[in-house]
Amino acid sequence: MEAEELALRVPKGFRFGVATAAFQIEGAVREDGRGLSGWDDFTRQPGRILNGDTADTADDHYHRVAEDLTLMKRLGVDAYRFSISWPRVIPDGGHRVNAAGLAFYDRLVDQLLEAGISPTATLYHWDTPLPLEQAGGWLNRNTAERLAEYASVLGSALGDRVDQWITLNEPATVTLLGYGLGVHAPGKALLFDGLPSAHHQLLAHGLAAQALRAAGVKGGIGVTNVHMPVVPASDSAEDALFAQLFDLLQNRIYADPVLLGHYPEVSGPLAEIFAALSEQSAEDLAIIHQPLDFYGLNYYAPAKIAAGGGIATGNSEEAAAMSGLPFRLESWPDHPVTAFDWPVVPEYFGVALTEQVERYGQALPPVYITENGTSCFDQLADGEVADQARIDYLAGHLAAAFEATAPGGPASAMDLRGYYCWSLLDNFEWAAGYSQRFGLVYVDFETLTRTPKKSYDWYRRLIAASR
Ligand code: FCB
Repeated sequence: MEAEELALRVPKGFRFGVATAAFQIEGAVREDGRGLSGWDDFTRQPGRILNGDTADTADDHYHRVAEDLTLMKRLGVDAYRFSISWPRVIPDGGHRVNAAGLAFYDRLVDQLLEAGISPTATLYHWDTPLPLEQAGGWLNRNTAERLAEYASVLGSALGDRVDQWITLNEPATVTLLGYGLGVHAPGKALLFDGLPSAHHQLLAHGLAAQALRAAGVKGGIGVTNVHMPVVPASDSAEDALFAQLFDLLQNRIYADPVLLGHYPEVSGPLAEIFAALSEQSAEDLAIIHQPLDFYGLNYYAPAKIAAGGGIATGNSEEAAAMSGLPFRLESWPDHPVTAFDWPVVPEYFGVALTEQVERYGQALPPVYITENGTSCFDQLADGEVADQARIDYLAGHLAAAFEATAPGGPASAMDLRGYYCWSLLDNFEWAAGYSQRFGLVYVDFETLTRTPKKSYDWYRRLIAASR
């Protein structure tokens, strides 16, 4: 779809942005007193990351902030969602603040404001300081207290200028891939025994929100959850049961306590799995249930679930690790897939938004899509990257979101305020290393040269025409 045509459907005042994360773009892992994170350690373990890639240099954003800001200015974004590297600010995860690390973000925020771009800061996008990781990471309740202390440091230093604060990014992914399946840091394959890591992250969210408020930050406070609509692969009772299990593991155990103040009530054969959560105290749930100024939602794809492990579909490490579970992800044969093998089903973005309205109703604050985008088989040829598949993905998904939330649409009760495209730059895509490109800007990982793709120009035109 042409950008100008889509622009006609953009609500007034809608905010467009781009998103990144510190570990995926910054590099400079040993500079200016930065400590190591669990992810630095994980990438050094043989066999963990595709092709043995590390994020030691990544996009070298730490040294190329000026160039990346220019790219954002030319794109015309209203807002930039970045994450702050916890070990850059608090190298050992304890009490000592690294002034040089904090200064990097202080300058970044000022530069964004000078450029007329609103700063949206994520406190935790997966880079736990290594000493905390070694002390159990999110299985240890102390990690939540430490995140709150770090939040307080950031609130005091940047609270007068940051426009939006996101406490955590996708706690579901950390628990499922990091503590359940072991394909992300810290590489623990505990399956359902990894669930306490969910509770401690949620607690960290609540404590961090309290700490930011106590520091008097002027910006709004929210959290980012990823949402995957789940459908059973067949009409069988078994598939339905495991679809329900996946929905709980992926969506509900994060969104319910944050928005409703309690874990989902699970009865029957699944109850045992969630005992570690349902036994948590009312005090903890009250901390987790903080008033939020906005809710951040990441959306990439829906999930189709069948009973039984065994042969998993897809080519990812994640799919292979999932074979240890009593259910599996099925493919969507009637739909194209991304380079990551994720199904492209834009109408399910509308379903994802509708589910929020149905499940959380009045409890749902204004919503920002804090990530959405796709990896493609991008080729740089004659100085250009003709990524039509990315343009189609973005256009299809934005159109579905505007349709669902328009007056008369199934999610019209949602106050959808903005959209951050993942991502500004091709970057270090976790376990997939540099093999998956999500950027609007192509990065040559040898020379670090940046080349805006066709999708960058499309997004620029969309933003300009929406004004
Ligand atoms: C999300 C992560 C983000 C990026 C995208 C592709 O789950 O939050 O860092 O890896 O997926």
